[in-house]
Amino acid sequence: MNMSTEKTVVLDFHTHCLPGMDDGAEDVDMALRMLRTSQEQGVNTLIATPHFYLGREDMDEFLERRAACAVALREKMSPSDPRLLLGAEVLVREGISELDLRPLCIEGTDLLLLELPFMHSPAWLYDEIENISLGQRLTVVLAHLDRYVPWYTKSEMEHMADMPGLIIQLNAEAVLSRRCFRFLRKWIPGGYPLVLGSDMHNETTRPPLIKEARRCMSRSRVGRAWLSNVDETAAALFG
Ligand SMILES: [Fe+2]
Repeated sequence: MNMSTEKTVVLDFHTHCLPGMDDGAEDVDMALRMLRTSQEQGVNTLIATPHFYLGREDMDEFLERRAACAVALREKMSPSDPRLLLGAEVLVREGISELDLRPLCIEGTDLLLLELPFMHSPAWLYDEIENISLGQRLTVVLAHLDRYVPWYTKSEMEHMADMPGLIIQLNAEAVLSRRCFRFLRKWIPGGYPLVLGSDMHNETTRPPLIKEARRCMSRSRVGRAWLSNVDETAAALFG
């Protein structure tokens, strides 16, 4: 029995809430509304994960821009707002592992959120992930694995998930889709650490849905197991 009295870390691992940073929050007011809607949904820790596209922007420029956006937001946040940590959503491209990716990890951690390409898995993909995971000794978090259902086969996913230390991030909307949930049940190997993210970009078309996702998960046996996994992983990473 868990005798801990510590507060549960209700984590949103994947958000685009930094004002003016990418295709997410447009300004500080919108970013604050997104944070507070998340908080109303019970979220107490959010990771800001703006897109980083190698080749479109130099990493130093990206980090400078991210720091400025974070300052603008934090200046307007109040102590009662949820905890906000900075990270990035890094699109995997051929050769990206030649770059030192540690500065893109979630602050204070070795966790790197990787977005896979939306295509049938190219031959170089596994090498890139392996170089990042084993070569750079970073903990790879696969962003919204659910969104690759149309692209990757179960065996491709299993091959990828063979790499040690991998964490799987699911989008809230995937958990809310019966069809997607059924796919994921078959795909996700038991025992893999899971994190949940809203991937929220705005308040309307891509809103925070963490509360709904958690409620939906609590209704089925597999969902409840995932929810326990999600909360245990969040506590281990950010508790
Ligand atoms: Fe995203």
